[in-house]
Amino acid sequence: MQKILVTGGAGFIGSNFVHYVVENTDMNVTVIDKLTYAGNRQNLAGLPEDRAQLVVGDIADAALMDELVSTHDTVVHYAAESHNDNSLRDPRPFLDTNIIGTYVILEACRKHDVRLHHISTDEVYGDLELDDPNRFTETTPYNPSSPYSATKAGSDLLVRAWVRSFGMRATISNCSNNYGPRQHIEKFIPRQITNILDGRRPKLYGAGLNVRDWIHSDDHSSAVLTILEKGELGETYLIGADGEKNNLHVIRLILRLMGEPEDAFDHVADRVGHDMRYAIDSTRLRSELGWAPQFGDFESGLGDTIDWYREHVGWWGREKSAVEAAYSTHSQ
Ligand code: NAD
Ligand code: DAU
Repeated sequence: MQKILVTGGAGFIGSNFVHYVVENTDMNVTVIDKLTYAGNRQNLAGLPEDRAQLVVGDIADAALMDELVSTHDTVVHYAAESHNDNSLRDPRPFLDTNIIGTYVILEACRKHDVRLHHISTDEVYGDLELDDPNRFTETTPYNPSSPYSATKAGSDLLVRAWVRSFGMRATISNCSNNYGPRQHIEKFIPRQITNILDGRRPKLYGAGLNVRDWIHSDDHSSAVLTILEKGELGETYLIGADGEKNNLHVIRLILRLMGEPEDAFDHVADRVGHDMRYAIDSTRLRSELGWAPQFGDFESGLGDTIDWYREHVGWWGREKSAVEAAYSTHSQ
């Protein structure tokens, strides 16, 4: 039976992956997570203790990572500082976790000859114009915009260098914007849902014409599992589900699904350096590895996500005022 070490497994996408793996495979999972503001023990609640354990610690702790990596077959590396707006206000934790943390993992995997799958983002490619007929592919040049995406690009390049220089058994995936349960309420979709549930108005940056390519977190998990099973070592795979929508459309849809007038939102200060459009061409993953997304209907996936936040006020309620107070100091 395979033992996998999942970094950042108490966060949004990592915890959804851990649940997905326990439900769909016979692998055993150890989560290593620092439980930053974005990590939550409750995200792993309900998992059988003999299949999934949590170790609280920092991926930049070389002694801890050496010990943990040495007893596992594969590392799936989700841990990161993940929010663009935070990176614009205080970039340092992004360098510590996304760059140094990834370096520490690479060295531990190299020493113990352990397979690594590195989770990354489409933001490493920068952005596209709204009318550009092209989408990102595995050969699009790197051109990150924010401190967050620059550190993710740096971490990808470190993985590529360890593959080339040291023969590291590694794969990389770059995925588009995820939605689903357990996403931190600082992020766009859960922020707006919880604003409405909390009697606040949704907040749209600028004109809201920026496009994101939405994918359900379970489709991201199935793609990662597919790459673990069938991916070619040393290669990169883009993950996306043809879900391009602009922010204005999404905010109106959330309002409609929650029974509110579609114009009941505020335009607030735009993000500096705001990427205009992300769009993924996932042909390689689909044609070479046979993956396909299961969540074709964004509206119904979004409806389920709204229900999740409605039913889990205890998960987000205590943090809501502080998250909104932090945004308001930046007129957002
Ligand atoms: P998240 O912020 O919800 O979770 C990150 C997790 O990492 C948290 O549990 C946090 O406690 C943990 N963590 C942070 N620093 C750590 C450290 N030094 N040591 C150990 N644990 C640490 O993030 P997310 O949205 O779930 O993103 C997970 C990964 O997926 C990231 O690598 C991100 O770049 C990537 N990604 C995210 C998206 C998206 O739409 N959210 C899309 C593509 C790729
Ligand atoms: O593309 C993948 C990336 O998607 C991941 O690498 C990041 O970890 C993840 O956070 C996400 O980055 P974005 O910056 O696209 O996501 P965010 O949820 O912060 O914002 C989505 C869009 O919504 C973006 O255009 C900014 C806008 N926005 C965001 C917030 C928080 C608003 O209009 N209002 C808001 O309140």
